[in-house]
Amino acid sequence: MATSSPFNYNSLYSQLSVPVVRGENRHAKYDFAVAYPDPETLPLEGLADSLKVALEREGKDLALYPVAAGLPALREWVAEKLARDRNMNVGVDDIVLTSGSGEAISMLIAALTDPGDVLLTEEYVYLGTLRAMRRFGADVRSVKCDDEGLIPEDLESTLATVAAEGKKVKFLYTIPAFQNPLGWTMSLERRVKTLEITGKYGVPVLEDDCYVDLRFEGEDVTSMHSMDDSGRVLYVGSFSKIVAPGVRLGYMVAPQEVIQRAMSFKGGGGVNQFAALAVQEFAKDSMYSHIQEQNDSLRVKRDAMLAALGENFGDAAQWSKPEGGLYVWLEMPEDIDLAAFQEQSFNEGVGYYNGTMFSPEGRGANCARLCFGHPTAETVSEGVAEMARIFERHGVLKG
Ligand SMILES: Cc1ncc(COP(=O)(O)O)c(C=O)c1O
Repeated sequence: MATSSPFNYNSLYSQLSVPVVRGENRHAKYDFAVAYPDPETLPLEGLADSLKVALEREGKDLALYPVAAGLPALREWVAEKLARDRNMNVGVDDIVLTSGSGEAISMLIAALTDPGDVLLTEEYVYLGTLRAMRRFGADVRSVKCDDEGLIPEDLESTLATVAAEGKKVKFLYTIPAFQNPLGWTMSLERRVKTLEITGKYGVPVLEDDCYVDLRFEGEDVTSMHSMDDSGRVLYVGSFSKIVAPGVRLGYMVAPQEVIQRAMSFKGGGGVNQFAALAVQEFAKDSMYSHIQEQNDSLRVKRDAMLAALGENFGDAAQWSKPEGGLYVWLEMPEDIDLAAFQEQSFNEGVGYYNGTMFSPEGRGANCARLCFGHPTAETVSEGVAEMARIFERHGVLKG
């Protein structure tokens, strides 16, 4: 066959498509960059047994396409969990299973955003959400935060500024539990305030609660969804953090009319029924004990990271002390550029993600997110010590 020159798609791409360059999965020797859970605590045996049971019972249903909203029995389990853990009173029909919560977030952004619309986020925000917002042409603006969450005065003034520009804020996106990347959990008072202020401006809230189960200490704070009975709070959750990212299962909770619009952006013929069957069977009897086991392991790693930061960074930096989740937020003095240093650090063996990657405005070059989920506690300790040595060698940390 004659070899032809490659077909040229350049004039065909939609205006909203942007090239996403998929780098190979690079890992530094000490990898604090990736947001992975602990491979040792994945419930592989439990999932395998559950899959076998579920397939014996209803495997033949795999011959059919699943219902668009996803396996009803798993949605039932989610509704019970949300009632038990998050004070949420929602029915099976208010829940749609998605391919990870990332898909739920993306569908909601698509359903609510036209190019140029203003979307609000916390000062630093989960990269996947930021990318999806930008993909739909949103004007993303951030609201300042402290250790308790969104700062009400800044939320109010941001909303007032946007209103004065004659623009509409389509929604506020928040990660109120173990925020990615900042690590804090929003206090009850701030949740109340946030709902009050956004309510004044008629702005919905998208509550991303994907880390809420990873609590090692302290008290749960009730969901924002439970504090509203008007349907103004949309909610997403995930099985990635309590089972595994590889199962690609998450969900959204929204009023029917929003679900119907969001579903117009759902591709792929429902969610993976094979994974949903295994997770549902597993969840029935084993989810809570598994979460406990996983949190026991994560607590040790978090402690290892905080201790190592204290030993190796002392007064030269500040860092968050999360009560759960996967991340510690490191803040160096203003004149330190961890963005410029990221590649060098990676090449010398320590991976992190610098603050600018999470900031809608590209701020935070002196900050970094350190994920303690994947490495062992010993590796966390060694890695932080190594990071300090690398930083010292290059004058990033003054010894
Ligand atoms: C805050 C937040 N939301 C959503 C997601 C998406 O996760 P998944 O699509 O695996 O549920 C992540 C992933 O790290 C995240 O950090």
